[in-house]
Amino acid sequence: MARILRIRTIAFCAFLLITLYYFLPSEHATSLLHVSPLHHGGTIVLAQYMNDARHIPRIVATKSSFAWNSVKFVYPPELTPKLPPHATNRPHIQHSFKAESHDIALIQGKRREEVKRVFKKAWASYRKYAWMKDALKPLSGEYVDQFSGWAATLVDSLDTLWMMGMRDEFYEAVEAVAKIDFGFSTSGTVNMFETCIRYLGGLIAAYDLSGHEALKEKAIEVGDLLYAGFNTENGMPVDFIAWDTAKSGSGLYVEETVVSASPGTITLEFSRLSQITGDSKYYAAVSHVMDTFYEHQNETMLPGMWPMFVSMRRKDVVSGYQFSIGGNADSMYEYLPKAHALLGSTSPSTMKYEIMSRTFMNTAMENLFFRPMLPGNEDILISGNCDVVDMEGTPTPRLDPESEHLSCFIGGLFALGGRLFENEEYLQTGAKLARGCVYAYKAFPTGIMPERYNMVLCPDNKQCKWSDTRWATERDKRKEWKDHLPLGFTTAKDARYILRPEAIESVFVLWRITGKEEFREAAWDMFQAVANATDTRFANAAIKDVSKVGSEQEDYMESFWMAETLKYFYLVFADPALISLDDFVLNTEAHPFRLPKA
Ligand SMILES: *[C@@H]1O[C@H](CO)[C@@H](O)[C@H](O)[C@H]1NC(C)=O
Ligand SMILES: *[C@@H]1O[C@H](CO)[C@@H](O)[C@H](O)[C@H]1NC(C)=O
Repeated sequence: MARILRIRTIAFCAFLLITLYYFLPSEHATSLLHVSPLHHGGTIVLAQYMNDARHIPRIVATKSSFAWNSVKFVYPPELTPKLPPHATNRPHIQHSFKAESHDIALIQGKRREEVKRVFKKAWASYRKYAWMKDALKPLSGEYVDQFSGWAATLVDSLDTLWMMGMRDEFYEAVEAVAKIDFGFSTSGTVNMFETCIRYLGGLIAAYDLSGHEALKEKAIEVGDLLYAGFNTENGMPVDFIAWDTAKSGSGLYVEETVVSASPGTITLEFSRLSQITGDSKYYAAVSHVMDTFYEHQNETMLPGMWPMFVSMRRKDVVSGYQFSIGGNADSMYEYLPKAHALLGSTSPSTMKYEIMSRTFMNTAMENLFFRPMLPGNEDILISGNCDVVDMEGTPTPRLDPESEHLSCFIGGLFALGGRLFENEEYLQTGAKLARGCVYAYKAFPTGIMPERYNMVLCPDNKQCKWSDTRWATERDKRKEWKDHLPLGFTTAKDARYILRPEAIESVFVLWRITGKEEFREAAWDMFQAVANATDTRFANAAIKDVSKVGSEQEDYMESFWMAETLKYFYLVFADPALISLDDFVLNTEAHPFRLPKA
């Protein structure tokens, strides 16, 4: 019976197909015949996007149901230092790109369109199944609100829509964003960090690109919401904003310990908001936070860096023995050179960013980066973790050769620092770190690196000769990894890939700074691997195991996939004038903030 049913089904399908072929409007029928039509070749088209002078729709922001700027603070933050005048004479950041040959431009145009196709599919599904929700679930087509329910994916994707020239979609999204109610939250506490980087960052960047006033008004609402997180006894921000207490203005309780990235990742958003509005209050509030880090930078167990966990309640940023530029700490370090790029170093309150940057970069080079033992002796660097242990009364840094996808931003950051501080060693170190992540992508069968892994440290952190026995011994200490690890890797502790952007972020920055073709080629390999393994009916999903081709997927797609990962891929293949690093600095969610000109 089952068999008969199947034959009937096949017959019916064939009938349907034939009918469709005859009755489909001819436009569709022809597009079916064209395999991936190439509409835009070369780099000329982008200039059109950027000068697109089409009618800008009039969109008026709806005020949120609560006015965050009306809160009476029991602990009003200091209003100084004032925002300094705009920085002058920034060094040149990007490589001087020459015009490309027609053939190369054609290839890059094709790649760009391919990235855009993947973005468009995800966007269409979000629009259809998860509109105004925080995220689409890419396998089930359901949705989830995990960031207070203010349409995180929508806000996070605004600037990508703009860059890809999807103006109709952009303005449709702006219209929706203009109605978001930041006076209501789906959660009783609001995560300061996520709200700052995704919502505030997303709104500022979309405003900086489009100049649309509705976006500025919404950015100010979110800025004032976050500013309420500074209503604390010592002026340090909370990690989570207690919603009702914050509205009352009666003062918030600063948590005992937090990860350093949380208080350390506000500088760019608050400083840019002050620049846009002319109101110094945001800049002043965050400047005091960074003073705390600055004053104690050399007093930690690893002078130059701060421990992963800090207490803003006690203003203690020195106790603690674990150091890393990876998760929990990452964007605190990222924002030091970037704050210097945005603010310059000409006033007493901004000088600290350059000093903190140079000091941390020197410490990281000496204590965190290592050259792994590899069969081909590739000259690459990986960023590990450093624990400072007590050896008979002497604090001794010990490097643990464990790394993670989150750490991959550091190559791009060092390259940027190399240009900002005119330091060739930073730049070369950045290139080697970026190549380290590219290596890790290539090494795994899917062409994607794992979320967390271990490699083998060379003694004295110098080059070392490959040894099968040494590798096997280190690997076999952890039985479960025995079978399916590429040479040189001793674990894939967390074998997932959850659509993260950090590796392509560094490859993008290295491409824009060095102009070396190797980075654009690496990006294309990475894109194909990622697009392939994560593709779902609706969009793209995290995968469970990068060491298995055809790995199972998870019903999970965070807003950073469209805000960051696909944006960086697109920008690698775009005209280097689009979001030039000489004109913009990107926040940790890949949102570009315009660098003010003196
Ligand atoms: C920390 O040390 C670096 C040099 O290693 C120095 O340039 C910097 O000024 C010091 N920071 C403070 C706050 O003293
Ligand atoms: C993934 O790669 C396989 C093998 O190369 C190919 O057949 C398939 O079409 C690709 N899928 C996507 C979504 O690109």
